[in-house]
Amino acid sequence: MPVISMNAKDLPGKFIQVFGSKPDIVATAPGRINIIGEHTDYNLGYVLPAAVNFRVGFAVKKKSGRKITLHSLNFNSVDTFDINHLDNDPGPGWGRYPRGILWALREEGFSLHGLNGLIWGGVPQGAGLSSSAAIEAGVLSGLNKLWKLGLTPEKMALLAQKAENFFIGVRCGIMDQFISFLAKPGFAIFLDCLSLEYEHVPFSPEKSGLKAVVYDSGVQRELASSEYNKRSKESAEALEVLKKMYGIKTYREATLDQIRKCAKKMDNTLFRRARHVISENLRVKEAVEALKSQNMIYLGELLLKSHESLRDDYQVSCPELDLLYETSREYPACIGGRMTGAGFGGSGIALVKSEAIEDFKRIIKKKSIKRNFIPPRIYAVDIDGGASAFPAEKWSDEGEKW
Ligand code: GLA
Repeated sequence: MPVISMNAKDLPGKFIQVFGSKPDIVATAPGRINIIGEHTDYNLGYVLPAAVNFRVGFAVKKKSGRKITLHSLNFNSVDTFDINHLDNDPGPGWGRYPRGILWALREEGFSLHGLNGLIWGGVPQGAGLSSSAAIEAGVLSGLNKLWKLGLTPEKMALLAQKAENFFIGVRCGIMDQFISFLAKPGFAIFLDCLSLEYEHVPFSPEKSGLKAVVYDSGVQRELASSEYNKRSKESAEALEVLKKMYGIKTYREATLDQIRKCAKKMDNTLFRRARHVISENLRVKEAVEALKSQNMIYLGELLLKSHESLRDDYQVSCPELDLLYETSREYPACIGGRMTGAGFGGSGIALVKSEAIEDFKRIIKKKSIKRNFIPPRIYAVDIDGGASAFPAEKWSDEGEKW
């Protein structure tokens, strides 16, 4: 996605430029990092994501009639369709996400109405920071306000996941949508993906003199959705074996000892997938304890272990993400780092002492050049709040914050 340099606070002005009148509602939603708990959400386990200060914006205005017109600022492209024909043709690639949200609302029994909508994406796409969930969250919170639907953030997260699963066709879990709707600045969310119970856990690396750093490998995750769906099938298959052997229902009930005893009872690939999910669930719970007791050093060790498991057992890393892991392990002012998100490219995160960030960037860029990798983009991020929507007249104050 072409990045365009603007700020969410400029959205109403851009809307006027594109559509000739003021929007009714302006909404914004964040991208995310996942501190730990990778490929555990669709396995009904635990995750610990946090939102970052890369956001998307959606400005929208009611229109009489049945026509929906969406304009993407990043692509400078328009998607227009009749509310009854939103799935008759695929529309432009970027239009799949807002169309998916409209589809999910219609499936839920809500009536759709005409509108003009302007979308701006400030979350780098394909970087593993969940730009798609951010677009879904921005659009849905805007429509929730515009049409006074009264949906809770939890319900909206589920609807956005439904859009992704059944309209877009990626069998993702609930993590990305959940954090984009429910995040709080300075907090991560410890989410139980089975019960959807959650807890905001303070996550302010700054208090320990650290900063969360995002490493965008620049590797586009072309394989991501097919390999992602494959991992989801494999882990479900391995679970069937565990269910038969131990009478358990989900991975969270299984122990490492049980999976060790299964080593010869299942194909080695399935065994590795299962071992990752079981060990990762345990690491999430330990990470929550580490955060609560401000034991950042231990958190860092857990990040490194998570990466090893994703690289060796779940096999979703790539050389560029492994470089981040190696550097995080070796660099004295970094307490830990790992790939984040689905993998196969995209981003990683590291926790680095604030004063050493520039040096950390320099070293990693040097190593990337040596290995002929695409030069990575590395940014220090703040832990941000979730999706919100406002009447446009209030936006000038609110928009300042983003
Ligand atoms: C993607 C999906 C999430 C989650 C992660 C892996 O980001 O959208 O639901 O499965 O991959 O942890």
